[in-house]
Amino acid sequence: MIRKLNHVAIAVPDLDQAVGVYRDVLGAEISAPHELPEHGVTAVFVNLNNTSIELMQPLGDASPIRKFLESHTKGGLHHVCYEVEDIFAARDQLIGEGMTIVGDGEPYVGAHDKLVIFLHPKDFLGTLIELEQSS
Ligand code: CO
Repeated sequence: MIRKLNHVAIAVPDLDQAVGVYRDVLGAEISAPHELPEHGVTAVFVNLNNTSIELMQPLGDASPIRKFLESHTKGGLHHVCYEVEDIFAARDQLIGEGMTIVGDGEPYVGAHDKLVIFLHPKDFLGTLIELEQSS
């Protein structure tokens, strides 16, 4: 089902400080910030040769990462994103195995303009997983 790591997302309280760590300390190449109001985050992408790291800061009061940051005040690993060929087939197979999809279970357009779903951490070793349609 999963074939490729698309990105790892890290929630941060201060995006400028986070960019400083990755650009100035770790020497990475970073994208310009993207405001994604429909996802409640402002994000930058750390571009690596084989994947990318998404650094995201809350945008708006209803941001879904605000609560996470209350318990991870310095920031923390928020989710990993794997690519799948067919998001609907993957979703149906996972539901058939008793796994919990976050929300209503319907794939929606994610931060990269591709269909995504999120899998509940309780079924996946305590890690929130994003599945993204690969094409
Ligand atoms: Co993501």
